[in-house]
Amino acid sequence: MRIALLGLGHVGLAFAQLARREAGAEALASILVRRPDAERPPWALPLLTLDPEGVFESEPHVVVDALPGTEPSRRITGWALERGIPVVSANKSFVADLLARSPGIPDRLWFEASVCGGLPLIETIRRGLAGDRVLRVRGILNGTTNFILGAMEQGMDYPGALREAQELGYAETDPSADVSGLDAARKLSILVALAFAVHMDPAAVERHGIDGLDPARLPGAGRIKLVAEARLHPGGRVLASVRPQRLEPADFLVRAEGAENAVEIETACRGVLRFSGPGAGGLPTAASLWADVAQAVGDRVARVRRLAPAAREDAASRVFGGDVPRRG
Ligand code: HSE
Repeated sequence: MRIALLGLGHVGLAFAQLARREAGAEALASILVRRPDAERPPWALPLLTLDPEGVFESEPHVVVDALPGTEPSRRITGWALERGIPVVSANKSFVADLLARSPGIPDRLWFEASVCGGLPLIETIRRGLAGDRVLRVRGILNGTTNFILGAMEQGMDYPGALREAQELGYAETDPSADVSGLDAARKLSILVALAFAVHMDPAAVERHGIDGLDPARLPGAGRIKLVAEARLHPGGRVLASVRPQRLEPADFLVRAEGAENAVEIETACRGVLRFSGPGAGGLPTAASLWADVAQAVGDRVARVRRLAPAAREDAASRVFGGDVPRRG
C-alpha cells in the first residue's frame, strides 16, 4: 500500500508511526510538509516534499490529510478525488467548510478523525443511525479547552494551562481556534450536516469561547465546561451554539476529564446515546485515520480477495503494484 501523508505535526507523526507499524515502513510513499527546517525522524527525510502536487508522484492509493487550515487541503483533495484516489482527513477546517457549502459528500472522502479525535462518531451517525431521526446533539467537542478548564480548577493559571495543552499536542497550530470555540463550532457543524442534513456554516453557530471567561458571571453551580449543542426545532430549523456552562455533577458531560470529549446524541427511536473518550492527541486521532484508511483502501483488498487464487496475484500487482496491504 502506498500512502501520501499531508502534514507531519503531532497527528501526522503519530499516524506515520502507526502506519509503519501496521503496514510496514514502505507503506508511506510521500509526506508533504510546510517547514523544511523542522526536526524530523531520519526515516521521514527521503519521503518529504514541499510541493503539494509532488505527493502524487509516488502514485498513492490513498491521501491522508493531517494539515490544519482549508488550504492546501482543499486543492489537494480535489486533485486526489479527480484521480479517483480516496482521501482520509483529520482536517476539520476543510471538512466543515466543504459540508457547509456542498449538498453532497464525495464518496471517496473519509473524515472520522476530523471530529472528536478517537471517538467513532462519524460512522455512527452516517451508518449506525441511518433511518433514525436525530433530535439533538450535545457535547464537549474540544479537548484543549476541557483540559484548560480542568487544570484551572486545580489551580493552574490560564496561560500555563494553555501552554501545557500545546505541549501535549492537544491544541491547534493556532490555539485561538480552540479557546474561542471555533474548533468546537467547526466540529458541531460537521455533526449537524450528518445528523440533520443541514448545511451550517461554523460562523452561523452562536459562539462564546473560554478566552476572557469570568467564572463569577456564569450562572448556576457545578463545573464549567465548554458545551456544544445543536437541536432540531419544529419546522426543521436547527439551532446551534457553543458556550461555557456550569454543569450539574450528574450531567454525563461532566465525566470528560483532561482532553477527553463526551457526546450525547438523542434520536427518535433510540433515546439518548452516550459516547466519551479521547478527543484530541496524536495516537487516538491517528487510530481514527487508520480506521478510515483500512476502509478506504480495504475495498481494493476485498476486490482482490474475491478473485480466484490464480487471478489474485495479477490483480494485486495491477491494483497495488504487487504490494498488497495487510489488514489489521
Ligand atoms: N485542538 C483540537 C482539540 C484537536 O483540542 O479538541 C482535536 O480536534
